[in-house]
Amino acid sequence: MAGLVPEDIERYADARTTAEPEHLRAVAEETRERTRSPGMMSGHVEGRLLEMLVHSSGARRVLEFGTFTGYSALSMAAALPDGGTVVTLEVSEEHAEIARRHIAASPYADRVDLRVGPALESLEDVDGPFDLVFIDADKPSYGLYFEAALERLAERGLIVVDNTLWSGRVVDERDPDPDDSTLALRRFNDTVARDERVVCVILTIRDGVTLIRRA
Ligand SMILES: C[S@@+](CC[C@H](N)C(=O)[O-])C[C@H]1O[C@@H](n2cnc3c(N)ncnc32)[C@H](O)[C@@H]1O
Repeated sequence: MAGLVPEDIERYADARTTAEPEHLRAVAEETRERTRSPGMMSGHVEGRLLEMLVHSSGARRVLEFGTFTGYSALSMAAALPDGGTVVTLEVSEEHAEIARRHIAASPYADRVDLRVGPALESLEDVDGPFDLVFIDADKPSYGLYFEAALERLAERGLIVVDNTLWSGRVVDERDPDPDDSTLALRRFNDTVARDERVVCVILTIRDGVTLIRRA
């Protein structure tokens, strides 16, 4: 299924978003060359959005579900104040190996704490509060990640959730034969919109990005 935003508009926005630094360009290049699903990477425009959210919210502690090759973790790390940290959770050793090298070679090695294992298990050793949580791991677990994030969210914290429009497949008519991820994302979007504990907005950026705060 095609992306949500027309390709020429994506290219235009990409070319007019502040250029990526060398260490992120290197992550993107290796991800395209060596991984089977480079489309999982947030990339330049969304990475800048994440950096902007961390910067403008003044976040000091960030939690990420789904490191992949490290692009989003390093984007967010760049906007942290001194002493700030990103705890990022990844189940795949193959992905973590790539992320680990790029984190070590970046200017932000001391700000990124990569934990390998199923996210909810790794989280047992991780205490909140977090000022910003980025949810971007396996889609069927989004509901569980949201609850875990909310438990650890600072009073004025922000939860950012990726892929919530899932190439448009969340709209029933666009995919009448939905897979597990599509069903989970439909359920997640419906549940969060009705949840009186929070306020949310879905941004039609890239594959859909939902912002959530406490009500
Ligand atoms: C969409 S990618 C993350 C992209 C990354 N945030 C970025 O912007 O480059 C999803 C990642 O979640 C990981 N993942 C899947 N299931 C997981 C789980 N149960 N616990 C932790 N990570 C998981 C996958 O291995 C994959 O690397």
